[in-house]
Amino acid sequence: MNYVILNGQILERNEAKVDIEDRGYQFGDGIYEVIRVYNGTFFTADEHLTRLFESAEKIGMTLPCTFEELKNLLASLVQRNKVNDGIIYLQFSRGVAARQHHYPDKNVEPAFTAYTKEMPRPKDKLENGVQAKLVEDVRWLRCDIKSLNLLGNIMAKQEAAEAGCFEAILHRGDKVTEGSSSNMFIVKDGTIKTHPATNLILNGITRRVILDICKEQNIPVQEEEFTVEELLSADEIFLASTTSEVMPIVKVTGGEFEAGEPGEITKKLQAVFEKKITQQCG
Ligand code: PDD
Repeated sequence: MNYVILNGQILERNEAKVDIEDRGYQFGDGIYEVIRVYNGTFFTADEHLTRLFESAEKIGMTLPCTFEELKNLLASLVQRNKVNDGIIYLQFSRGVAARQHHYPDKNVEPAFTAYTKEMPRPKDKLENGVQAKLVEDVRWLRCDIKSLNLLGNIMAKQEAAEAGCFEAILHRGDKVTEGSSSNMFIVKDGTIKTHPATNLILNGITRRVILDICKEQNIPVQEEEFTVEELLSADEIFLASTTSEVMPIVKVTGGEFEAGEPGEITKKLQAVFEKKITQQCG
């Protein structure tokens, strides 16, 4: 049996119905998170839920539950569905209201849905690396909000997928911002560079774990903008996300960057990242 959460209750999936005038459905008016589960246990759940509450505040939405209530309910769903290695997806839309662009009355409750999915770690890709394609970043200027509005991201990902690539590397003019669903990192002469956590990127939880690892391991990091030219002349490139962890990019389509195999610093970060998973999730 597959269970989901609908508005605070655990139900069988086929019993969960969403109204067609849900503002998430009609406007993408809402926020979401994806949290990794390893060995039946959440990884960095507090960080994800903190970001969820921050996203809610940024769009003027009050979540209908406390942090602890939410965390406990999500843990119950993971247990109920016997997730081993997978994810939980959760979203809050602004709720159900007659279609009008401005926010509905304060007494409309956000609509909350969540489900789980088994998803083994992408071991083959982590070991061998993936290809990526450069795509112009045409998204809005509040990429720091983990919003349901992902059309800019999915169109970029589609362009990459059609070119046989795993990810799109987004750039605004000559500046690299992030991936379509990940953060982007380069390594040059032993120093890591990644875009600063501004409105132009999502401040990924995996990104933050990597920055902590770099501090612990004395790996120099610059949270600074870098150009497409710097990307293509880097020694190593990797991306980071909840589902992809620390993923080496071994080729940027067109052949401008071709490392062939994951670099040494990327591999070191992967090894420490794996230790963190074991520490938290056994
Ligand atoms: N995506 N940037 C964007 C645009 C993202 O969509 C994501 C995550 C990240 C990495 O964030 P984190 O490390 O917190 O997962 C960066 C998720 C996994 C998704 O939409 O499926």
